[in-house]
Amino acid sequence: MLSAPPPFSLILFGASGHLAKLKIYPALYVLALKKRFPEKYAILGYARSEMDDEEFRKLVETSVRVSMGEVNERVLSEFLTHVHYQVGQYDQEKDFKDLAKKTETLEKGFGKDSVRMVYLSVPPTVFTNVLNLLTPSGIHKEGQPFRCIVEKPLGHDLKSFEAIRESLQCCFTEEEIYLLDHYLGKEAVRNIYYLRLANPVLERLFKNTLIRHVEVVAAESDGLEGRAGYFEETGTLRDMFQSHLLDICTLMTMRTPAPDESFRLYRRNALEQLYLPPAASIGELTTQGQYGPNPERNFPGYIQEDGIAEHSRTNTFVTLKLATRTSRWEGIPFYLLSGKRLDRKETRISIEFQVAHPVGLGSYPNRLDIILQGEAGLRLHLQTKLGGSEPQFRPLIMSDPLVCMGDCLPEHSLLLLEAIAGKQQWFLTFEEVRIAWRLIDPVQKYLEDPKTPLAIYPAGTAGPKEANDWIARDGLEWLKS
Ligand code: BG6
Repeated sequence: MLSAPPPFSLILFGASGHLAKLKIYPALYVLALKKRFPEKYAILGYARSEMDDEEFRKLVETSVRVSMGEVNERVLSEFLTHVHYQVGQYDQEKDFKDLAKKTETLEKGFGKDSVRMVYLSVPPTVFTNVLNLLTPSGIHKEGQPFRCIVEKPLGHDLKSFEAIRESLQCCFTEEEIYLLDHYLGKEAVRNIYYLRLANPVLERLFKNTLIRHVEVVAAESDGLEGRAGYFEETGTLRDMFQSHLLDICTLMTMRTPAPDESFRLYRRNALEQLYLPPAASIGELTTQGQYGPNPERNFPGYIQEDGIAEHSRTNTFVTLKLATRTSRWEGIPFYLLSGKRLDRKETRISIEFQVAHPVGLGSYPNRLDIILQGEAGLRLHLQTKLGGSEPQFRPLIMSDPLVCMGDCLPEHSLLLLEAIAGKQQWFLTFEEVRIAWRLIDPVQKYLEDPKTPLAIYPAGTAGPKEANDWIARDGLEWLKS
């Protein structure tokens, strides 16, 4: 069971922000609850909002209570004694020096093996400023184990990513940099790889002579959740495809390394094999949409949301067709779909197998669903004969709820713990982020073009009809789970 034995300090930049409140404080509380923290640790929030330690503790407490519903009062109040706050600007060396001093004070008695971590949960506009001040201010110093955790998005295209990469690489060594994509912390997502590794019987079925097509779907019922500013500049393609959906495709298709080979290298290689299949134009490979109002469900349209421009063309729904050169999967079309304000929360991989020959009435292709979120489960769709002299069939679905059992932690908790322990396997490499942007940039450019259609779908429904027409051109329908 992984725990964090060395004392550590965690400086969180963007401490009053959305991500911190929604994910990071609850994740830290869970680690305290599960007794994964050492006796000595300090969590130090840093942001521009004026607050003292007590007010900050209240903010952390509220975010934990809202997210967890039920809390262990004793653990929560003990956890809050480790929480501190420092106000400051993101571009003032003096403020950073004060922060370094406060951190030193909090680390008194931690011992020489203690780990210092910084977590950048700040908007891209201040990202580089923060990075550039960490070393001159003494927050990053030689001789103390250090981790710099940065959460996606890393830039908004290849060029802006390269600027961030340069700032990171000029200040820190590779061992100090942790590029966090929370999907890689999800047990269900990691399990895509392990299901293959542990089940050669499945792995043998995963090849292009047997598979007809693959769907990777990440449907969300939520809308903007208070993040209009970020989302308006980002859109679904950058927000979900550049990172999470490509993670899923990669874990599905990567070769399994021998124990002494690098897992991250193999993951990167699989990512590099993904490509946009040949087409007369990118327009054949993608569609986009934006949710409109749905008065029946009392949902506003995207452009009616607070903080969104009246004529915004930001996509909230995208489909994309990909293929891979990885030999076993070569030539199989991958249809990716993601959208906000759809009729369900579901993250799913569906693999539809080819039909060798028609067998009779009611038969349909074999299929394997790996449902990662929503009604999670593994479902193998077979079919069995109905009684009677004619061959007629009914579905036979073998299923398991794929519930995480054992040492299960929420994604941010697991990743934080691994970062403290210096385990980098489930963090991205620069090369992976670069390859992902290289793949996504031309699609983004096409979708942004004012001439590219943007279909409007009513909020709370399955998405635009155009996405059905798009997949129908390849003789398919979106699969239902
Ligand atoms: C984040 C995106 O990375 O992932 C969000 O920025 C999205 O827009 C979220 O809602 C989805 O994550 P999950 O864990 O809810 O599937």
